[in-house]
Amino acid sequence: MENREYKFHENTRLLVTGGAGFIGTNIVEKLLSLGLEVTVLDNFSTGKIENIEHLLSNPKLQLIEGDIREIEDCNKACRHIDYVLHNAALGSVPRSMSDPKTTNDVNISGTLNMLIASKDNNVKRFVYASSSSVYGDNENLPKEEETTGKPLSPYAITKVTNEMYGRIFHNNFDLPTIGLRYFNVFGKNQDFNSQYAAVIPNFVKKIISGEPPVIWGNGSQTRDFTFVENVVEANIRACLASDEATGNVFNIATGNRVSILDLLREICNILGAQVSPIFMDWRAGDVMHSFANIEKAKKLLNYIPIYDFKSGIRKTIDWYLEKLR
Ligand SMILES: NC(=O)c1ccc[n+]([C@@H]2O[C@H](COP(=O)([O-])OP(=O)(O)OC[C@H]3O[C@@H](n4cnc5c(N)ncnc54)[C@H](O)[C@@H]3O)[C@@H](O)[C@H]2O)c1
Repeated sequence: MENREYKFHENTRLLVTGGAGFIGTNIVEKLLSLGLEVTVLDNFSTGKIENIEHLLSNPKLQLIEGDIREIEDCNKACRHIDYVLHNAALGSVPRSMSDPKTTNDVNISGTLNMLIASKDNNVKRFVYASSSSVYGDNENLPKEEETTGKPLSPYAITKVTNEMYGRIFHNNFDLPTIGLRYFNVFGKNQDFNSQYAAVIPNFVKKIISGEPPVIWGNGSQTRDFTFVENVVEANIRACLASDEATGNVFNIATGNRVSILDLLREICNILGAQVSPIFMDWRAGDVMHSFANIEKAKKLLNYIPIYDFKSGIRKTIDWYLEKLR
């Protein structure tokens, strides 16, 4: 792996919203390992204290238990912050189908609160999690930033709206923003117990417990699975990139696609397992193919995926095995 140097100013303080969740904890761990000051704002709705327990004794970490739907909590968290890495949200397309209102409140009103608090507290840069779901019904491949489609779920609507607010605050309110469209992230700390568990933790858990994994549709759908450490790298790069990058959104992915059947094969190979999946009807709100062009992030953020799919999935399964031991 290339040796990367990150040039933050001394005493830089970053706020990670959703810092007790899957992606957030990976970001927090990396920032602390670089000796930076980190504040976490999380309401522990899907995040877990056990994800960050081992970091709590670090004097450079401040934990604020609070809700992004409350502007006072956002203001408290944004005080003396240089960079906001806004990752708090309710993820999952199926969750947004069964409860669109809460997803809307958290992802749209909560993000608007965070933008207002960041502006009012003179934050230098606001980096936020968007999603490949903004490509919606647009079937073009690979996905390119300027050509999105109609959203296929309430979750996707929230991410499209976040991007519109991100642009408005950048253009009109003097808050530099950068949106990162994550593509199917996987890795350490991804929840496998939730009813909304993503496909990789879901498959791993089923296979390990001897149950057949469920495939929605015929398994030919493809995804640009992205190891979480690539996403961490993108967040750091977004803080350090030149001003030219602000006001933009970027695909953050590996730049390859893997079908659900191939994913299952790869996991079975690593675990030395043989399984017969159960095939169910296609699931509403899911897109058929997802695969990113990452040239814009390479050029303006200096982002290069550190891990490919195969090396990432190996590390991830090692982590699950260790955790389940
Ligand atoms: N995991 C993926 O594949 C993926 C893909 C695209 C985009 N994203 C986005 O990345 C971000 C992080 O996702 P994740 O996979 O780590 O999910 P996660 O559920 O593990 O983490 C989200 C965190 O936000 C916190 N949170 C939720 N509502 C909150 C609220 N009202 N106030 C404060 N904190 C709140 C949760 O407790 C949790 O710790 C989200 O914005 C998500 O939409 C994730």
